[in-house]
Amino acid sequence: MARQHGVSRTDRNEPKASAAGLWHIIKLAHPKFSLMIPGFLLAISGVILNLFAPKFSGQLINSFSSGHQLNQRLIVIVLMLFVGGAIVSAIGSFLTGVAGEQLVRNLRRIVWDKLVVFKVSYFDQVKSGETTSRLTNDTNQVKTLVANALPGFLTSSIQMVGAVVLMFATDWHLALWIVIAVPITAALVTPVMIFAAKVGHGTQDAMAEFTGSSQETLSEMRLVKSSGAESYVLKHGQSLIDNLFKFGKREAIVDGVIGPIMTLVMMSLFVLILVVGALRVSRGESSMGTLFSFIMYLFQIMPALATVGTFATTFSKTQGATQRLITLLDEPVEDLAAGEDINIEGQTLVANQIDFKYQDDQSILSQVSFEAKPNTVVAFVGPSGGGKSTIFQLLERFYHPTNGEILLGEKSIDTISLKAWRRQIGFVSQDSAIMAGTIRDNLTYGLTGHYSDQQLWDVLEMAYADEFVQAMSDGLDTQVGERGVKVSGGQRQRLAIARAFLRDPKLLMLDEATASLDSESEAMVQKALEKLMKNRTTLVIAHRLSTIVDADQIYFVAHGQITGQGTHQELLATHELYAEYVNEQIVTQ
Ligand SMILES: Nc1ncnc2c1ncn2[C@@H]1O[C@H](COP(=O)(O)OP(=O)(O)O)[C@@H](O)[C@H]1O
Ligand SMILES: [Mg+2]
Repeated sequence: MARQHGVSRTDRNEPKASAAGLWHIIKLAHPKFSLMIPGFLLAISGVILNLFAPKFSGQLINSFSSGHQLNQRLIVIVLMLFVGGAIVSAIGSFLTGVAGEQLVRNLRRIVWDKLVVFKVSYFDQVKSGETTSRLTNDTNQVKTLVANALPGFLTSSIQMVGAVVLMFATDWHLALWIVIAVPITAALVTPVMIFAAKVGHGTQDAMAEFTGSSQETLSEMRLVKSSGAESYVLKHGQSLIDNLFKFGKREAIVDGVIGPIMTLVMMSLFVLILVVGALRVSRGESSMGTLFSFIMYLFQIMPALATVGTFATTFSKTQGATQRLITLLDEPVEDLAAGEDINIEGQTLVANQIDFKYQDDQSILSQVSFEAKPNTVVAFVGPSGGGKSTIFQLLERFYHPTNGEILLGEKSIDTISLKAWRRQIGFVSQDSAIMAGTIRDNLTYGLTGHYSDQQLWDVLEMAYADEFVQAMSDGLDTQVGERGVKVSGGQRQRLAIARAFLRDPKLLMLDEATASLDSESEAMVQKALEKLMKNRTTLVIAHRLSTIVDADQIYFVAHGQITGQGTHQELLATHELYAEYVNEQIVTQ
């Protein structure tokens, strides 16, 4: 549950939003202008057709009231304007919609391509939920702006200006009334809308907090129960639910009030225009048709005004989103292919006075040196938190030493491409991960070659994992991991060892691979490991005395330093802490 308290990188240095950044991201996403521009043009044509529909409708009505017979030509024109406007607008928004979807796909691909090669340190610092939000919400926000808000803003502006111009051309007197009355009503409605938006945001935040917190708690239910934290969890959840209720109440009030207020304002506006219009009609200064068309324009202007009004908010929201995307895309990445592709077999691995810190202020390793000759077993032992796993992470090149270097033979390991390097390393940790998928998927995860069933059964046998896989309903094709058959800790470790056999690494790193197992499965896993260790250089972080005793060379790691080295006998004789440590191990085993 520590994730809850993690420092969020974007909170720390919230980037400054800029229009240039927005443009940069849009360019990066390669919007399809061949769809976008026709889409825009069609949308604008639709608006223009819509603009003329009220004008001709007015004429149609005037033709009734002046006692003429039905003007068929006008009816056809009005129908064509309405239907044509609808069709053209629909095609236009379809085109921009598709272009928008393509844009968001391109953006997500760009972000995903980056995420996959981010350095491990990124994932230390940023919560995964936050990264997911960049990938889903922020990319979507760019689409909303480009495919919805921007065309909406343009067409609505044209609609508004066009309607005003046409109204002035028809009856400037009545038009003046509208031009004065509409902004006033808009100004009256705006505070209500702003308040509603605020309440909406509050609800969203409260909901996000509740979802995040409850998900976290539900996934750690065993911890909750074993720690007896039910009453805390109960209270915490209830307070979040109450908070949601608080916002819910406000939302209910807003929802309840907004409808009537909008109706009231709109009706007042209509009544005003109708009264003024009717007066002018009765005086013969205007016509029924004009009045009718003005009401239609009013229907067009109101939503257009709302669209134009919300554009600024969408724009600044998108600027925020693009700035976050830019920050994300600026993160340092790993170049997997850079460097030589060499065979690391038969070469000595040497760490030369390496220093390391995860964060700037806290030194984790200092002056660590060790050597691993080909086909030997090198053990790292020492108190927990001393820095043993960190050494392995540096060897995997998840992080880079702040000082010193790691050499393979004469060369720095940095000259070897990450891809080639990691391909030749096998790593088995304390809790090996199982991915959702079949046994087969898990064994061949990350491998590109084709493996026959026989090969897979062979490695399973070598890892003493064949029996339990055979007992599974679908053998190699049994679904494990999430939503599949659950595998026990010992079985998981043996699958990881089988995977390591298949990868056939030159350098094997075992990080307390049997630490979390009961003694029966530990014995099995140990046997499998001993087989795996044959004929390769093995670095092992060991807690079991038997593994330590047999190692060719042992390094004692405490407080980030190597305080002693040698064989078991040598260390027993020379290193007091080591002797103490071994004694403790014997007592506890
Ligand atoms: N990703 C990380 N970010 C920051 N500090 C870390 C990270 N991983 C480990 N540490 C710190 O590094 C120190 C050494 O940890 P570790 O190498 O796991 O020790 P060991 O494996 O010997 O028990 C500990 O103080 C631990 O808190
Ligand atoms: Mg460790």
